[in-house]
Amino acid sequence: MLEQNNWKKLVQEKVSRRNFLRGVSVMGAGAAAAAVLPAGVLAAAAPALAATAQQMGLPFVPTDVSTADDVTVPEGFSYQVVIKRGDVFTKDGKTFGDNADWTGWYSIDALEGGSSTEEGLLVVNNEYLGEMFVSGYLPDQEAAKTAEQILMEKEAVGFAVVHLRKVDGAWTIVTDSDYGRRFDATTPIALTGPVAGSPLVGGKTEVVGTLGNCSGGQTPWHTGLSCEENYQSYYGEDSVNEPNSVYKWEAEADSAEIPEAFGWVVEVDPFSGVAKKRTALGRFRHENVAIGIGASGKVVAYMGDDSRDECVYKFISDGVYNADDRDANLDILETGLLYAANFGSGKWIPLVFEGNEDAFAEPLSGYTIDSQAALLTYANVSARKLGATRTDRPEDIEIHPTTGDVYIAFTNNSNHGNFHGQITRIMEAGSDHEALEFGWDIFSVGGPQSGYSSPDNLIFDSKGDLWVVTDVSSGSLNGGIYSFMGNNALFYLPTTGDNAGKAFRFGSGPVEAEMTGPTFLGSDTLFLAVQHPGEESASLDELTSTWPDGDVPRAGVVAITGSFGL
Ligand code: FEO
Ligand code: CA
Ligand code: CA
Repeated sequence: MLEQNNWKKLVQEKVSRRNFLRGVSVMGAGAAAAAVLPAGVLAAAAPALAATAQQMGLPFVPTDVSTADDVTVPEGFSYQVVIKRGDVFTKDGKTFGDNADWTGWYSIDALEGGSSTEEGLLVVNNEYLGEMFVSGYLPDQEAAKTAEQILMEKEAVGFAVVHLRKVDGAWTIVTDSDYGRRFDATTPIALTGPVAGSPLVGGKTEVVGTLGNCSGGQTPWHTGLSCEENYQSYYGEDSVNEPNSVYKWEAEADSAEIPEAFGWVVEVDPFSGVAKKRTALGRFRHENVAIGIGASGKVVAYMGDDSRDECVYKFISDGVYNADDRDANLDILETGLLYAANFGSGKWIPLVFEGNEDAFAEPLSGYTIDSQAALLTYANVSARKLGATRTDRPEDIEIHPTTGDVYIAFTNNSNHGNFHGQITRIMEAGSDHEALEFGWDIFSVGGPQSGYSSPDNLIFDSKGDLWVVTDVSSGSLNGGIYSFMGNNALFYLPTTGDNAGKAFRFGSGPVEAEMTGPTFLGSDTLFLAVQHPGEESASLDELTSTWPDGDVPRAGVVAITGSFGL
């Protein structure tokens, strides 16, 4: 069995090697002149900076650090709120949920080979909820939540299929569409794969609800993958130990679901409305999925477990992707094998029960691992046992569109004294996503020297440059070691040339918000979610943010328009 290897030591070795090769210090390697200028300087030096930005080949003039209660964008760009919490978006009157995260665009004509940038379905995750804003429940409320409050909360999470159309240059919601659908914590969803019907899920092949839907990914066959991340907050971590949830939904026993129903990847076909949980991809705090096609045509799904000291995974399908037959791919994620990364040896470890019975002879954290289904249900403890390296909270993972390198945002890990995170890059052997060996390096290091901290969602533009949003927690923003960064923001990091790995600040979010779910559409539109503005508000009378309407803050999705130089 492989050693897990010490992640902190491995990263330190990579960072010193990288700086030695470049002949510069860590400070110099990540610094971007425009990104680190103190507040106020950028505006005064605007003409000079515009010339510098042009010389540097940047598609925009970097913006100043912001602490404003607004979405800020560079000169020449503007934004429109597309949808926000409470907006009606389906013909049966369903409303948009709270704290939007991942977005995925599906052109309305995609199944006919089209790529409309004027009309399509935007799949949007609603990751979690602010109780005060959704159900009116206050943390110091003495009485338990009522059944009505719990139902309001259940209807605020999950994900949405929103039908959008551009009318006179502005995005409008097609509210009478047959496609508009809400998937929330009350929606029945099928389980598929090795865990479906097993005792681990009480024999169920269908469970009620999806929740904790953080980031996600798109498949080449035009479905979406919505990832259930912090599922423990709703009904607790598992059925083995005492419930430990934050939202206390288990208190409403008549409608409570078992914890093992959550923590999976949900595949949704936005055109048919069919959604299925894919248990073959394992159960852990799923941040996202990035799909690659291997050399033999198998589908490879890269995934991170966003918890301190947890691991990086990939799934390789048994079947082969068929570019000419969409239906043949619709259940390809049902069967295959899950692997976890060992960063010391550069190996992908197969997570199989058979042949590893001795390793699982004793319960792990109270879980009996006695089958492949049990291994997948408690994948984190099983992966660690088999030698997966414990890392620094892998958030988003994205595949470079031309090199095929796999970029991972390790956001931070206070357990390791890693407060600002880094972006790491995996190079698969033979550039084959199905490879079982890989090399890796550090692409960019967060901190005051680079202007950003705590990288979260990543997206490549069509030129192969990287866009990164940050997630400094709302309670830490604009204070202490995070003062340099201002509000959470969107950064642009070229991947080639003199500026490779340097961060340039594109824009910022409102007070206490996190920008999530970036999706490019064509060369002039970027969808971006604005999550949890004003979440530190003590009460509805003491709001810290009033974005976007000047009253109670409403998380939502914006479309940023301008020339991204693509
Ligand atoms: Fe929901 Fe890991 O961010
Ligand atoms: Ca995230
Ligand atoms: Ca996050």
